Amino acid sequence: MTGRDDEMLDHEFDGIREFDNPPPNWIMWLLYASIAVAVGYWLVYQTFGVGSYPTTRYEAEMARAAEQQLARMAKVELNDRTLELMAAIPAKVGEGRKIFEQFCVACHGAGGEGSVGPNLTDPFWIHGGTPMQIHKTVTSGVPDKGMVAWAGQLGPARVQTVTAYVLTLKNTNKPGKAPQGEPEVAPAPGAAPAAAAGQTGAAAAPART
Ligand code: HEC
Repeated sequence: MTGRDDEMLDHEFDGIREFDNPPPNWIMWLLYASIAVAVGYWLVYQTFGVGSYPTTRYEAEMARAAEQQLARMAKVELNDRTLELMAAIPAKVGEGRKIFEQFCVACHGAGGEGSVGPNLTDPFWIHGGTPMQIHKTVTSGVPDKGMVAWAGQLGPARVQTVTAYVLTLKNTNKPGKAPQGEPEVAPAPGAAPAAAAGQTGAAAAPART
């Protein structure tokens, strides 16, 4: 094992001495390769952002699946499931957020935490917290309590997207206006949602609460 250039180092512990040998090449190549991979990883994921993390790809995949399912259900009348699918599509939620920022924050707060209007992030609802109940409140309003009937001003499509956005606020429990109304009760297991007839995949999908 001792090469020509080997030099004995001048320390000794309990009679053990060592040569000043370089580490074997294979271990050096392993080191260089890890450095190269680390630099490549850094460039691809951090600097240029051309690679997408598995979590990002997963979310994109889920959004795509929701879009496809929504497209298949396009002819079904609006129901809890279609609204929940919209709430799973970032593009729709983004549109909804813009509408919310424009028309709703004045009374419900920037994050839905409530001011004049109730807190939309707690589990308590005056008019019910299911997607269709929220949709109905936004559509028809509560005129004598100061909540506008938005269907006229926004039209059905924008009422749906803003409802989808409200669904993403639901149960985020932001500190704000004290709870009003009743806690939302989960529908009894096995109870078919009223408008579920004819929809696909509803039974398999867990309710987003
Ligand atoms: C002028 C103030 C005002 C604006 C603007 C407003 N709301 Fe409201 N909203 C209220 C009030 C007040 C209530 C409570 C009604 C009641 O007490 O029955 C309410 C209730 C609600 C509820 C039902 C909450 C519950 O506990 O059942 C939802 C959902 C809602 N608003 C969504 C919206 C959305 C979405 C927008 C924007 C498109 C909006 N609101 C704009 C005042 C407002």
